[in-house]
Amino acid sequence: MTDSPPEDKPAAEADQASRPYSPGLEGVIAGETSLSYIDGAQGRLLYRGFRIGDLVAHGTYPAVANLLWTGEWDPGHRLPTGPVPEPVLTTLRAIPATTKPMDALRTAISAWGTTQDLPWPPTVEQARALTAFSPSALAAFARLRAGQEPVTPDPSLNLVEGFLYQLTGTRPDAATARALDAYFIVGAEHGFNASTFTARVITSTRSDIASAVTGAIGTMKGPLHGGAPSEVVDQLAKVGSREHAEEWLRDALARGERLMGFGHRVYRAYDPRAAALRTVAEGMEHKPDWLALAIEVEDVALRILAEKHPERPLKTNVEYYAAPVLMGVGLSPDLFPATFSLARHAGWTAHVLEQASANRLIRPDVNYVGPAERDLPS
Ligand code: COA
Repeated sequence: MTDSPPEDKPAAEADQASRPYSPGLEGVIAGETSLSYIDGAQGRLLYRGFRIGDLVAHGTYPAVANLLWTGEWDPGHRLPTGPVPEPVLTTLRAIPATTKPMDALRTAISAWGTTQDLPWPPTVEQARALTAFSPSALAAFARLRAGQEPVTPDPSLNLVEGFLYQLTGTRPDAATARALDAYFIVGAEHGFNASTFTARVITSTRSDIASAVTGAIGTMKGPLHGGAPSEVVDQLAKVGSREHAEEWLRDALARGERLMGFGHRVYRAYDPRAAALRTVAEGMEHKPDWLALAIEVEDVALRILAEKHPERPLKTNVEYYAAPVLMGVGLSPDLFPATFSLARHAGWTAHVLEQASANRLIRPDVNYVGPAERDLPS
């Protein structure tokens, strides 16, 4: 809350300044959604009422995306990866090989928007086309920067399998595709996070779905949002062994560092997405060597964090077990944030549809805290 305005301020300004202000909009209800429900205290996450653990166990990413878009649960729903239009490929060939994958994906989606007719209001078909396009674009960029030619989509493969195929040039085994599919499901949707809110603000102006998702990626790119799984990998590499864990973690906390993969703004209980991904990671055929170490270090970290912060439960978050899943399927850590963005396409585009279905321009007020009205110096 800010101080009350000086007494000489006009009534309109005084009214504005007397209204509550919450930095970062923390705690502010900024909309209504029927897409997901997050219960931070109990560690529950529901998509349209269905538990995330059940969706991971019995669903696929295309079925979950379709659930978010339409509200219908069709476990057999399919969505293959889509084509990359020629102007997008030309763009991806033109950008430097050193481009960060998030920048490449954002640029590709912006270029894709120039090749599409995307009239208002946005449709499920637009959401499907964009969600199908982006994995092909990211895979094409990953190959081009390595001096390889992009792989043409195979329509017989479902989205996540197709993405891995286009990335590596070989069809993934079923267990590997299943593991990444589970990661896509847990990453698909998470309420009014910063990138989703961005997508809704853009949509509220009656702009198009490609612009909304381009903006969302710009928001997700920031280190406060884009996820920490590659930092989990780095941290475990530094811990090195079970024997060193306690000493290393205590020293890191003493240096004021954060333990990566722990704590959350909303969850006070164990993140249900972490629980689902831990099960997936443990069942993987190609487990990274350090998965066993990660499981042991988790116990030590939880014990030390509980000791250090008895007032604030700091539990394992989704990033901790996203790391072994993403490493286990063979992705390089610099592709982790962009892969998270691919997964979040379902949620972003579902929010675009939901915003458009009951649209009101998002345009909040702001407290003016500058100088009072005055004359220009003569
Ligand atoms: N390791 C050590 N201490 C942590 C911690 C962590 N991972 N997360 C929070 N804390 C401590 C803070 O130091 C702070 O202690 P203090 O009051 O003594 O300074 C207290 O817990 C509250 O932290 P705060 O930054 O207010 O919580 P937040 O809700 O803003 O933070 C995160 C949420 C996710 C940013 C934070 O937990 C974090 O940085 N985690 C590590 C990075 C990570 O895993 N990110 C992925 C999130 S999905």
